[in-house]
Amino acid sequence: MSSTLGIAVIGAGKMGSDHVRRIGRTVGGARVVAVADPDGDRAKEVAAGLEGAGAHTDPAAAIAAPGVEAVLIASPGAAHEEAVLHALARELPVLCEKPLTPDPAGALRVMEAELRLGRRLVQVGFMRRFDAEYERLKELLDAGGIGRPLFLHCRHRNASSPAFFTSDMLISDSVVHEVDAARWLLGQEVTAVTVLSPTATAAAPEGVRDPRFVLLETSGGVIVDVEIFVNCGFGYQVQCEAVGEAGTARIGDGHAMVVQSAGRWGGEIDQDFTVRFADAYDRQLRRWVAAAARGRIAGPDVWDGYAAAAVSRAGLTAAHSGTRTAVDLVERPALYH
Ligand code: NAI
Repeated sequence: MSSTLGIAVIGAGKMGSDHVRRIGRTVGGARVVAVADPDGDRAKEVAAGLEGAGAHTDPAAAIAAPGVEAVLIASPGAAHEEAVLHALARELPVLCEKPLTPDPAGALRVMEAELRLGRRLVQVGFMRRFDAEYERLKELLDAGGIGRPLFLHCRHRNASSPAFFTSDMLISDSVVHEVDAARWLLGQEVTAVTVLSPTATAAAPEGVRDPRFVLLETSGGVIVDVEIFVNCGFGYQVQCEAVGEAGTARIGDGHAMVVQSAGRWGGEIDQDFTVRFADAYDRQLRRWVAAAARGRIAGPDVWDGYAAAAVSRAGLTAAHSGTRTAVDLVERPALYH
């Protein structure tokens, strides 16, 4: 390993270019040495400001480029598996944006490749685990500060959804964050999913079922409810209230600064996840870079990516069938205990 970790960034869209900027400005000990995007102009544009970084249209070529010691994958979910497998074939540490794969079968193929290597090299970008408020809630729950948890009440709202966003993506791309957060906060697996859909908001694109209400049941008997509303209009909001036997705890109220003036009081609502979770993305990347330099990971692993994909799959079945759907998980391999 060199003194600064050489990273190949796969996918140079919104998240990929945000991570590249982050590596240059806020994360020490790393540099981007290759950027890949099938849109060659996009790859060139993102690589242009980076000294010595090559632009590629083929992810495999970027991963094989000289000086690459770790791989950050920020392509669309359907492209993750192939890129992760290329990286694992070279035994390179990976940070893969969520979802690890869109379906559990793909995640299992990644798991098999990692099991063959016998060590965990792939971290999944469930960055809420690095958010200071989520960390405090986790510490409180682990310390028994509100007793045994009974409910998590979650709200996940976006101002508006991109044109390509479908009814299924509310579950597989958005609620998947709550799935991981709930599994991590509670230390339990999700065992069943039910999805209810009220009348769609007039702000939703034609045919998109938005908002939706998702109920998760866990192995420890906790009920997690999630309001997912991706065209709420007013901003980006992620809230979670834990209810335990001895109290409640709530995060995500966004009360950073309250202004009182001219007979009114109020504050600002973040408009975007890159703002609300900016610190979490920084911390995720810093800790991953430090771990990757030692050939390790420092966050959610392939098991977490697989479990989230299995819950997403059950969630889509539940949404389409209108019935409560059990989550099928394979036995957890010892590598992931
Ligand atoms: P985007 O559409 O802005 O960017 C994706 C880029 O990947 C595009 O430039 C596209 O040309 C490129 N691409 C397409 N196929 C590719 C392939 N086979 N290999 C390499 N690049 C390819 O999408 P965005 O929002 O940046 O999302 C990327 C990933 O990040 C997705 O997995 C998404 O779910 C995840 N994401 C994570 C968030 C988080 O909070 N952790 C938030 C938003 C997105």
